[in-house]
Amino acid sequence: MKVLATRRYPGPAFDELRDIEVKPLAELEAPRPDLEVLVVANEPVPLDKLPGLGLVANFGVGYDRLGVEELARRGVAVTNTPGVLSAATADLTLALILAVRRRVVEGDVRVRAGEWKTSWADGFLAEELTGSTLGIVGLGRIGEAVARRAAGFDLEVLSVRSGDSADALDRLLTASDIVTIHAPLTPETRRLIDARRLAVMRDGSCLVNTARGEIVDENALVAELVSGRLRAGLDVFAHEPNVPEELLPLPNVVLTPHLGSATRQTRETMTRIVVDNVLAFERREPLLTPVTV
Ligand code: 8YV
Repeated sequence: MKVLATRRYPGPAFDELRDIEVKPLAELEAPRPDLEVLVVANEPVPLDKLPGLGLVANFGVGYDRLGVEELARRGVAVTNTPGVLSAATADLTLALILAVRRRVVEGDVRVRAGEWKTSWADGFLAEELTGSTLGIVGLGRIGEAVARRAAGFDLEVLSVRSGDSADALDRLLTASDIVTIHAPLTPETRRLIDARRLAVMRDGSCLVNTARGEIVDENALVAELVSGRLRAGLDVFAHEPNVPEELLPLPNVVLTPHLGSATRQTRETMTRIVVDNVLAFERREPLLTPVTV
């Protein structure tokens, strides 16, 4: 069964895929009816070029860009990698919270620039985590893992999950010193945190996003950050890999390149799950982690 993988995915399990071609989707020219399995990282699937497809094995838990409704209509199965990346993503969330609240990156930049000439006993002050309120938007596997870690930092935790009212979300935004997003991108969550909701966040509070950039109105967020009213730790963006240029000089923002699941252990486990799904599909056995639409 012929497999197309859009890149070499990390870890030894990848080598168990036998009849495989490694090529980015952008390099597919003529239609390839011979390809039956696609291994991809949340990229739009060009069904016109892949008419023989039976399985899309997604490297990641989020599958918002695949076009799952159309895949389901055409009878193409989809799998993802749930569960295994919750710890890594929750760890990065705490790293961003700490980096923003304790001005870690700003400190690093100023040390490297030779600006540390005197004791900063009376300046360079930051905000404590202990006793601050953390609002978790989306209390699934990753949100729960963040809540467990937050307890270790003596944060007060508020949360909303899918199905909770719009008022509950507004109350969380108004009451939190730090807001962190852990919802999937769906039609309901696209721009959930819009200009009005950003405006109700407390002055000096911090927005952390390791979920999807499109959940926040990025232009409105940029305006709040440029004004200096809010701070942010951002791992995801609306048009990756493009980061709004206005953010680059800002000391109140920490930027990372979609690193949520990027530990060796987690990424290798994700590849293991992808490969096990492909092998199950080839043997006509039940898929391990099917996505149901
Ligand atoms: C990416 C992710 O898949 O799981 C997700 O939803 O966004 C990530 O794990 C990974 O970064 C590869 O692009």
